[in-house]
Amino acid sequence: MLYVNALHDIVTIIPKKYSVPWFLWDFLFHRSQKRYKECIDIVHQFSENIIRDRLSEDAETLENNTDLPFSELHDSEVRRKNMDSLGLLMKKLRKDDLQNNVDALVFAGHDTTYAALSWAIQLLGEHTDVQEKVYEEMVQIFDGSNRSPTKQDLLEMKYLERVIKETLRLYPSGPTVGRKTRKDIQIGEYTIPAGASIWIEIYFIHRNPKYYPHPEEFNPDNFLPERVRDRHPYAYLPFSAGPRNCLGQRYAIMELKAVLSSIVRNFKIRSLKETKDLNPLMGLTITPHGGVNIELTLRDNNKENKFTEN
Ligand code: HEM
Repeated sequence: MLYVNALHDIVTIIPKKYSVPWFLWDFLFHRSQKRYKECIDIVHQFSENIIRDRLSEDAETLENNTDLPFSELHDSEVRRKNMDSLGLLMKKLRKDDLQNNVDALVFAGHDTTYAALSWAIQLLGEHTDVQEKVYEEMVQIFDGSNRSPTKQDLLEMKYLERVIKETLRLYPSGPTVGRKTRKDIQIGEYTIPAGASIWIEIYFIHRNPKYYPHPEEFNPDNFLPERVRDRHPYAYLPFSAGPRNCLGQRYAIMELKAVLSSIVRNFKIRSLKETKDLNPLMGLTITPHGGVNIELTLRDNNKENKFTEN
């Protein structure tokens, strides 16, 4: 079984643990959901391989730099070049914690982005006027060239950024986050006691008509600078907030811009199903139930070049 399939099955099975009362007993959960353990083993194997490969790479780096003592190597040019997020984690963590963090990083970075991409493609394929505005922005930035985007190009994609933000408002990939309260909290007439486990429903916060006048409508202008300025900062939380917020948010926006811009530059997207019929599936991430169904037509007016994707 592939890593991505294992990951997909895990996010489908985990919500059962919290929604089916008798699965609170680990024994019953593991007895009836044997697939869960198989999938977890595949995911662990994958992260173990990443760590093992990196350790052997580092051993090679050390061997090729025998003139430097290890303590100096840590701060040397060679080492700094190798200091990506995995390098930093390896410097700081014990093996178990390291593996947990690699699992979290790969999971958090994959499923969320895939869900956001699906929704964005669906919404662009339905709101073709918005899609054309994104295309016009691309024409302005790339001026007829078919080169790959630079970091500067990605920063200039202001309208596409509003489209991505609006997509994540309607369909926040992480629709809910869990917290444990450290002290009593008063909300209106209700007191949430210290030590309680709570779920913060980002999905519903994003559909509050007090902050978004037509909350069900897809409208990238909700993210015009003046509208953002006048809104409560916690009325929009796709990446959560506070000390445990998303570590990859800037990267995620860049990644989404890179993929979506290259699709819109090359294809016209048409959604074959209406978004209202897609039935969001609420799990650890929020995905379109049954997938999206789109048609892509090459943007060279060659009507023969049609692709249909499900
Ligand atoms: C559209 C894409 C993404 C969305 C909507 C998203 C959203 C979130 C949310 C809601 C959380 C939970 C934070 C909390 O409990 O308060 C989270 C955590 C996290 N995300 Fe993302 N994320 C995305 C992409 C990424 C990417 C691409 C990476 C890494 C490359 C990443 C890395 C992480 C990590 C490591 C955490 C755990 C942080 C911690 O527990 O301290 N995320 N993300």
